[in-house]
Amino acid sequence: MEKRILVTGAGGFIGSHLARELYKQGNFVRVVDIKWDGYIEEPYYSEKLTLDLREYKNCLEATKNIDYVYNLAANMGGIGFITTVGADVMHDNVLINANMLQASVENKIKRFFFSSSACVYPTYRQENPDVPGLKEEDAYPADPDNFYGWEKLYTEKMCEAYKKDYGLDVRIVRYHNIYGPEGTYEGGREKAPAALCRKIAQAQNPGVIDIWGDGKQTRSFCYIDDCVRGTIMLMESDYDKPLNIGSDRLVTIDELADIIIKISGKKIDKKHDTSKPQGVRGRNADLTLVKKILGWEPKISLEEGLKKTYRWIEAQLKKKD
Ligand SMILES: NC(=O)c1ccc[n+]([C@@H]2O[C@H](COP(=O)([O-])OP(=O)(O)OC[C@H]3O[C@@H](n4cnc5c(N)ncnc54)[C@H](O)[C@@H]3O)[C@@H](O)[C@H]2O)c1
Repeated sequence: MEKRILVTGAGGFIGSHLARELYKQGNFVRVVDIKWDGYIEEPYYSEKLTLDLREYKNCLEATKNIDYVYNLAANMGGIGFITTVGADVMHDNVLINANMLQASVENKIKRFFFSSSACVYPTYRQENPDVPGLKEEDAYPADPDNFYGWEKLYTEKMCEAYKKDYGLDVRIVRYHNIYGPEGTYEGGREKAPAALCRKIAQAQNPGVIDIWGDGKQTRSFCYIDDCVRGTIMLMESDYDKPLNIGSDRLVTIDELADIIIKISGKKIDKKHDTSKPQGVRGRNADLTLVKKILGWEPKISLEEGLKKTYRWIEAQLKKKD
């Protein structure tokens, strides 16, 4: 049966892919964003509204006659952005999330999905490259590494409070480094996989690229199609506590770059720049709970996902030449 769904932040990376899948499934999908990037392939929505969700009246308009809200709008970016910008990230995101929660109660939304982040996890569990995966319960005692993570943790709690006081049915995901085509790849907000794909695509052959940090910091990366599948499964489940969606394959940033270099077919040297931010030293996802609750795990290998991402970014850059 057709559901009436709102996806906020649908001019962005995850929101656009998610909206496309929900739209393909035959739902009425309203998409909202403050701006629209030109490179997202249409059609992927039933109705499109351009709104600033920091304003309460706009959140009321966005949630009008809607049953299910996927709230993905956020002022965010990769490590370069979130280590530089603190106040605007906290200010904008707390307004978006507080107003969206309140408007969802006012408009009697059936279920509210909040996109939290692996950035909520405490710094003291991420000090070595060879870290165990982060379990959902590891978030406390809290000590996120950056302001963005603190705001996400605060909004997780706000979701809990709205459930308790107003009976709002909430779903909370903690995404770990989602990547894929149609994500930001330039301009300062891009994340490591997209930034490395861009640098390698633009490099001479033979050539050299710079890597932020010493390259030994570790992360895990989850492909967008797996993320969208898990997101919809979580929304349709009965589970209302925070749940990881990510990958548990830990790689160093050097290894990530090497996979992309191999895909490019170029001969590229890596030059490390330790003056640049690298975030926590190591971060991995523990998927025990999400496997148990949803029966979800990622299916697309890093090599396969990066191949698609690299080809897309390469094609975008060629279009600009
Ligand atoms: N991509 C990841 O790896 C990742 C990891 C953890 C959490 N998340 C969370 O998932 C969500 C989606 O992330 P993404 O990677 O698609 O980011 P994105 O930046 O591509 O998309 C976010 C969208 O929100 C929009 N937005 C910002 N301020 C707004 C406002 N005032 N009103 C309306 N729209 C506004 C932006 O224009 C953007 O299109 C975010 O909440 C993010 O914090 C993402």
